[in-house]
Amino acid sequence: MQIDCTERELFIFKKIATAAREAGVECYLIGGFVRDKIIGRPTKDADIVCLGDGIALAHAVAARFNPAPPVAFFKTFGTAQVKLPDLELEFVGARRESYSQNSRKPAVEPGTLIDDQNRRDFTINALAISLNQADYGSLIDPFNGLLDIERKLIQTPLTPGQTFSDDPLRMMRAIRFATQLNFTIAPETFASIQENAERISIVSQERITDELNKIMLSHRPSTGWDLLSKSGLLSLIFPQMMALHGAEYQDGHGHKDNFYHTLQVLDNISVNTNDLWLRWAALLHDIGKPATKKFEEGHGWTFHGHEVTGARMVPKIFARLKLPLNEKMKLVQKLVALHLRPISLTKENITDSAIRRLLFDAGEDIDSLMLLCSADITSKNKFKVKRYLQNFALVKQRLQEVEESDRIRNWQPPVTGEMIMEKFGLPPSRAVGVIKDAIREAILDGAIPNDFDAAYQFMLQKAQELNLRPIE
Ligand code: CTP
Repeated sequence: MQIDCTERELFIFKKIATAAREAGVECYLIGGFVRDKIIGRPTKDADIVCLGDGIALAHAVAARFNPAPPVAFFKTFGTAQVKLPDLELEFVGARRESYSQNSRKPAVEPGTLIDDQNRRDFTINALAISLNQADYGSLIDPFNGLLDIERKLIQTPLTPGQTFSDDPLRMMRAIRFATQLNFTIAPETFASIQENAERISIVSQERITDELNKIMLSHRPSTGWDLLSKSGLLSLIFPQMMALHGAEYQDGHGHKDNFYHTLQVLDNISVNTNDLWLRWAALLHDIGKPATKKFEEGHGWTFHGHEVTGARMVPKIFARLKLPLNEKMKLVQKLVALHLRPISLTKENITDSAIRRLLFDAGEDIDSLMLLCSADITSKNKFKVKRYLQNFALVKQRLQEVEESDRIRNWQPPVTGEMIMEKFGLPPSRAVGVIKDAIREAILDGAIPNDFDAAYQFMLQKAQELNLRPIE
């Protein structure tokens, strides 16, 4: 075997080889498994292409294990999946495919190994390893995929125009692989993406967004977003992000390019978290800037309220990208809305009350917010960065101290609406809300401590001001 496999994998491949020999069909390991093994990336699934009926081979392989794993098969595609506890196998018959201009759905007919390798997206994904007796373990590499792995190069086996026109999702995949693997896209291949970008319109949003999420979860996601922008795909799939481009100068005042600033923030946060949604929050934190940009005479460029505008844009962007419209979207929205708060605290005298308000508004997500804010410090001026980071550390310490003494993070009103209604014989009404809000504000301002007795006394006092009498 030309690749470094575990004992268990070798044991599984021997079983496949025997089942194939008995069935009288040739079969090969192919695609991502071979690529990732050569690169040394972890692998969880292996594609096996066979010259014949892939589904029948899958059944024959499953029968060789005890207990036999279930076989999930998709007759229309001629593919079958066998899920072993440590490796997922996918069997498919070798195919020739031809695509029509207006659809991703190919016309498929049985083919040879080389037909099958021809129809694959990139040379690095077209490598095959024989599981046949005659040349068991040898690498079949008609397009120099191995060399491209060494050269860290993404290019198509056929002319790029044909490969991308067959399946325009591959334009996204090229950029995703370049980002995940830290490879370069060959100039001719990239030029073809630029030429064919419009064809992305026939690909479903779900599949595009799968690729975006894979880019987002890569080691340095900025690579992918920059390539998306330069390829012309970004203007088509996410124009709001494209609008962040550009640094404008007027009367000697400039502002930074918000596109590249955003990418820097995204990379910064990615060093500290693998959480997809915190990475999306970083990507979207300044998305409201283009819509709020103004030039103020004598002062320069401003983006007042961009955090509010940005937070309002989040649900629309999530809907367009078919990202989930659930609590994850709400988290991103909240972080976008609050992203200036901790930094603004470092610019003024930090009062306990300001710290309590930040804890109250961020609640459970305060740590995520702090992560986003420290990622947002991207000045080129080292002294500025150092000062910001120092002040920022101070804010962190104060947050901890105030939280320890006042417990605001998971704040629950010490006196509830029910208690107020019962004490003053009130139905649900505005007065109840007024008293509740007044108690909360008094606690956040530090006028009273965050405990029941103080809140109860404050309630009596506030009720008196409102001419309410307790029921005896
Ligand atoms: N493939 C292709 N064109 C596509 C999708 C897939 O040619 N649009 C081929 C490639 O040869 C690829 C294989 O099918 O290696 C398996 O596809 P997939 O599982 O999507 O990708 P992997 O390469 O395995 O990589 P990953 O698991 O990271 O997505």
